[in-house]
Amino acid sequence: MIRPIRLSIRSFSITTKLKSSYTHVPRKTISDIHELYKSNIPITISTSHDYITSKMVDDADIDINLVGDSLANTTLGYQDTNELTIDEMLYHVKSVQRGNSKSLIVADLPFGSFEKSQKQAIESAIKLIQLGKIQAVKLEGANEDTLKTIKKLVSIGVPVMGHSGLTPQKHNTMGGYKIQGKDSENALQIYKDCLNLQKSGVFAIVLECIPNKISKFITEKLNIPTIGIGAGPYCSGQVLVISDLLGMKNPEENHIAKFVKPYANFYNLGIEGLKNYKNDVITKKFPLADEHGYKIKKEVYEQFKKEAESI
Ligand code: KIV
Repeated sequence: MIRPIRLSIRSFSITTKLKSSYTHVPRKTISDIHELYKSNIPITISTSHDYITSKMVDDADIDINLVGDSLANTTLGYQDTNELTIDEMLYHVKSVQRGNSKSLIVADLPFGSFEKSQKQAIESAIKLIQLGKIQAVKLEGANEDTLKTIKKLVSIGVPVMGHSGLTPQKHNTMGGYKIQGKDSENALQIYKDCLNLQKSGVFAIVLECIPNKISKFITEKLNIPTIGIGAGPYCSGQVLVISDLLGMKNPEENHIAKFVKPYANFYNLGIEGLKNYKNDVITKKFPLADEHGYKIKKEVYEQFKKEAESI
């Protein structure tokens, strides 16, 4: 008799059953994202940084799962995104990929992993795609070298998402994390950058921290989707960093940017849960013998006890 094999991934106390082929939903592609754009349906993006957050993004049917380098200063506690290496990114990309079967997965090329040469950018992108099994990369900026690199990546089959406006990897040259496009010269530069990014073949552009009217103008002029973060409601889609979106950071220690809307309060819920757990352990309300414990047959225990006590 052939026994059915029950596949499961064991992770501490959670057993995750793999989905049956009958319920298989194919992963979103860039064509699907462009279909949403053409149909005027807003594109949803959330970042995620590990298996657990990625699984939530997948189960919530978010269109694009971005492994943003914001993982550096959120999940990993670094000072800024520039501390993140390509190998650390790959480690997290792999974990996100294991948790998500339906979203298009895009990962940032971290600071220092693409600027030296086109060869370096190609190697970094291939590393993330081949070993991390993702579908596209995101690159910040639009200077001459970056545009050439993007063209090259697209030509060898690497889909690229652009990123304009506030580009956190350049916060040192930008003088901090400031709203961009506030004067007409800077706004014009952002618009030109977006036109050049589009020409270079990016499939979408993240617009970060720019005035609503500028993102609206750019969105209306481009024929690829714009994805806003702090860029107002007129973009083709929106992205938020998952720790902001779910309220995972201590609100008393962290500044919450104006453009963030927290949809949950994970931090406070987490603290409350941990405090209740500690209190239950101290007062011996957890674990309870019958509710949380495992039983052994009386005769087996008697046998064990007899032998153990004779040692
Ligand atoms: O790193 C990131 O999370 C990002 C988003 C802010 C778009 O690039």
